[in-house]
Amino acid sequence: MIDDDSISNNSTARPFQDILHSFTSRRKILAGGMGVAATSFFGASVVAAEYNEKGANGNNKGKKQLVGFTPVPVAGGGGLTPRISPEYNYDVIIPWGDPIAPGSLETIGIGHDGMHFFPLGNSNDHGLLVINHEYGDNIVVLGKNTPSSLDDVRTSQYAHGVAVIELEKTNGSWNTVNTGGYARRIHVNTPVTFSGPVAGSALLENPAGNQPKGTVNNCANGYTPWGTYLTCEENFNGYFGSTGVWARTEAQRRYGFSAGSAYGWHLFDERFDLSNPDYVNEDKRFGWILEVDPLNPDSVPVKRTALGRFKHEGIAITEGLGGRIVGYMGDDERNDYIYKFVSEANWKSMRAKGKHPLDHGKLYVAKFNDNGTGNWLELTIDNPVLAAKFNDQAEVLIFARQASDFLGATPMDRPEWTTVAPNGLVYCTLTNNTARTTATAPNPQAPNPDGHIIRWLDSNHHVGLTFNWDIFVLASSTHGTEESFASPDGLWADPDGRLFIQTDGRQHDGLNDQLLVADIGTGEIKRLFESVFGAEVTGITATPDRRSLFFNLQHPSSETTVPRDATIVISRKDGGIVGS
Ligand code: FEO
Ligand code: CA
Ligand code: CA
Repeated sequence: MIDDDSISNNSTARPFQDILHSFTSRRKILAGGMGVAATSFFGASVVAAEYNEKGANGNNKGKKQLVGFTPVPVAGGGGLTPRISPEYNYDVIIPWGDPIAPGSLETIGIGHDGMHFFPLGNSNDHGLLVINHEYGDNIVVLGKNTPSSLDDVRTSQYAHGVAVIELEKTNGSWNTVNTGGYARRIHVNTPVTFSGPVAGSALLENPAGNQPKGTVNNCANGYTPWGTYLTCEENFNGYFGSTGVWARTEAQRRYGFSAGSAYGWHLFDERFDLSNPDYVNEDKRFGWILEVDPLNPDSVPVKRTALGRFKHEGIAITEGLGGRIVGYMGDDERNDYIYKFVSEANWKSMRAKGKHPLDHGKLYVAKFNDNGTGNWLELTIDNPVLAAKFNDQAEVLIFARQASDFLGATPMDRPEWTTVAPNGLVYCTLTNNTARTTATAPNPQAPNPDGHIIRWLDSNHHVGLTFNWDIFVLASSTHGTEESFASPDGLWADPDGRLFIQTDGRQHDGLNDQLLVADIGTGEIKRLFESVFGAEVTGITATPDRRSLFFNLQHPSSETTVPRDATIVISRKDGGIVGS
């Protein structure tokens, strides 16, 4: 197992009431105007509460704050240079365009996003960083808005995808190294395979007979206890366009395909031309989660179709009852859904039998009820509602959005990252929804320009069909305070009960995008880092000892001191755990 403390926690074995207790006086929730739609408020973390009472050394009188650093103040924000808490240092590493390894001709992509650190030999100074390259505007990558040739298209395509990088810390700084030939690029023209219920479906075959290749718009990520990386294809529709006569299907409409494309790939690469009958099913080859084995540089990445096809933001993997693999996933579109996958059996016994845990299991979509309860609706062809609409399980998964529509899933305010906290609660960022016209209990602001964070406790150790939910924080309730933030996106709960929150979008109070840390027990939020003008903060991973934390600045303005997409690595000056 990799450094996944959330998987090993078993605290959801406690009764619901023991874990969650009412705290209706939370300023953030009340100030945010939940009003009478309010659900049962719950949430203080037993784990965090114990930390606060006992301190890190277990001494009851120690009282060490879980989130103890001096926050970056609101005043002075909005600049061209990053700001960080005075107890911390930061470095800028692996910018777009650098070699992926010393002397390599392969280069780091653009649009740094989700990532994960895989230690080599449990080292805290040496490991593989697998990182997503979500997207890059043509004007930045090519110096022009529209490609003029297939070469231009290939350059744009190469900037997208995933990089596997070997990193080592020497004399206090992290650098790329090559001790084992691990470094590689996976991009739009890298061969891939399909596995799971959709593999072999005629809906993945083109008359052209072309073999599956590539991954696009690799947004957030997940990772598995068997040591692999999961990269999530988000706005895949945007890479397709039409050069001729194209009759858009209802499914293509639901997934947002249109004749125009900001990238213009379809002008020179027929794979991405929706009007080309030889590539009629190429669009269905994207919108999946791709598994990459970083320790095996010759391995072919695999699209795990049991996880469904939608605009995958990310996936938070945890271990549910009986050792089943559970993955929580957001579909980032205004009024789209939150999903859950549950493997059919214990992941270790499945692997021992040669069955991949992400190929065999059930996909569910979330229905949030106004009374604070929720239901997971089964996305299988065994469901009579879906059997009446689809021919087989492959269709249900390929058209997961429409299947979810038929079941009455709850439209949410752009579900982005999910994370499983050590107390068993699942947190999910709902980044914003300017198109919302009707407030509902789980999405209580209409419109919702600043977003919120929702959380739930699944029944039966993550494998049940019901859950209880509440809202952790409405971003608008922080405006005008030192906790000010908006448009939460990246999210990570560490094993002590700190919730790292990253933002992507217009901030208030003069701030740039930022990295904040919340105490999930008290709800207190502190600003650890403020980004440079124009750059969202996204992607988060740490060394096993959590003394080095990596995150990304995506699309910074060129006038800033971080002029290109790059990774930031931070540490405490006193060598303590990052976030403390
Ligand atoms: Fe790629 Fe929804 O962020
Ligand atoms: Ca995001
Ligand atoms: Ca976002």
